[in-house]
Amino acid sequence: PPYIDKGWRGTPINELNRMPQCAPPLSHLKAVPNHTVAVRTDLLREGEVPVPYPTKFKDAWDDVSVKMPSILFYMFKNNYSPCQDAILRYNTAHAKRWDFTALNLLCTEPIPLLKSRMNHSLTLSQEQIACLLANAFFCTFPRRNSRKSEYCNYPEINFYRLFEGSSPRKIEKLKTLLCYFRRVTQTRPKGLVTFTRQMLINPPNWERSQTQLTHLHITCEGTIEDDGYGMLQVDFANMYVGGGVTGHGLVQEEIRFLINPELIVSRLFTEALEYNECLIITGTEQYSKYSGYAESYKWKDSYTDETPRDDWQRRCTEIVAIDALKYRNFLDQFLPEKMTRELNKAYCGFFRNNAHSKHLSAVATGNWGCGAFGGDTRLKALIQLMAAAEAGRDVAYFTFGDAQLMRDVHEMHTFLTERQVTIGQLYTLLNQYSSVVCKNCLTTRPDVSLYSFIYERVSSATPTNVPDSAKDSG
Ligand code: AR6
Repeated sequence: PPYIDKGWRGTPINELNRMPQCAPPLSHLKAVPNHTVAVRTDLLREGEVPVPYPTKFKDAWDDVSVKMPSILFYMFKNNYSPCQDAILRYNTAHAKRWDFTALNLLCTEPIPLLKSRMNHSLTLSQEQIACLLANAFFCTFPRRNSRKSEYCNYPEINFYRLFEGSSPRKIEKLKTLLCYFRRVTQTRPKGLVTFTRQMLINPPNWERSQTQLTHLHITCEGTIEDDGYGMLQVDFANMYVGGGVTGHGLVQEEIRFLINPELIVSRLFTEALEYNECLIITGTEQYSKYSGYAESYKWKDSYTDETPRDDWQRRCTEIVAIDALKYRNFLDQFLPEKMTRELNKAYCGFFRNNAHSKHLSAVATGNWGCGAFGGDTRLKALIQLMAAAEAGRDVAYFTFGDAQLMRDVHEMHTFLTERQVTIGQLYTLLNQYSSVVCKNCLTTRPDVSLYSFIYERVSSATPTNVPDSAKDSG
């Protein structure tokens, strides 16, 4: 054929920054007031299982730490039989592997709760995480079986909801998690994972921003997790991180949490995200391959993750949980305060303090907030491009099969780049669209599309050619 349409547009993906190549050397790993490290950093060696720290067990039953299913606390507070007895009763064959001194030996320090408005990091070993998740599987975390309790503002951690009902979804979820448990009990994992809660203290002055758009690679093929390796990968999150992973949910976030189950442990200690907060998770490993999506999701096979590790022995996989707003009425998302909220949320996820643009990996994202949460892909794509530019990062955008969206966003990005439209000007255009088109709209959908409005306004300010696709739309 004279013309073979390629499945992507814009900058070739290999020209975008990835970890570990783009990163400057890491500082030495050490515990500081805003970073809890649960292993001996002096003994950390490539290829060796990290040693927990401190080695003498401390438990806390206070409101800044995770309440642990410590055997003593269980007997003392709840008068239950020790949890390991219960578990071993069902797992006599695995008695050796499911060694329950692990919980006390491995998690020797109380785990801090990452509460609202805290900027705090927590580094755990993959083995500690496996131990915590085994406890979650057996529902041993106290006070976590009802959302009415003191943990009402936290996600569910005990897996009891995974076992209920006969839906094929649950079966496939369990297969995926059991694959993980099989793997980590066969071979002790040797790395670390860091969980960072980040709050945006100074949001950008969007209206005044002189920044221009950064590079965009956009494709209708592939996924964030497969093709965005080494990039900052967006988790289309719920304010309760992990969303419905321990229940019925099975879309982007839940699938990611199932194939990289170490993400699930964040539910143990991460309070609901506020409008200006995100959770960054560095170092999780992928254990499963899957096919399908939602109803058609299937666990396919075990997966061997060969992502290189950084000097802290973390896989170079950085995932950021940012929760979009859920829209029932389509027009609501064009309200200026909603658009600003989404800009700041994305920016909070993408921004890194004291980091130079050349050291920042590209953002690997897609239709954030546009599935279960009902957002408009064309608006959300622009918002994410603006936030990434302001944070100094390029973007790899995965449209998840939508070729028209790929062409439209690419055309808009090219147009704005050629006209050197700044983020500030774009922000003003978004607000004009809101007041001119959406405010007086009598139907449920705007009668002029956002992109044709932008083409119009920018072109009439500096008359040159309008892209063909914009002429007849709207
Ligand atoms: N790579 C790239 N794009 C994807 C992928 C992927 N792996 N998976 C899905 N998409 P959704 P939301 C595209 O609905 O609207 C969860 O329950 C696909 O086009 O997961 O932000 C959370 O816990 C899909 O329609 O995100 C929240 O409660 C679109 O991304 C809630 O859903 C949006 O995926 C968040 O909903």
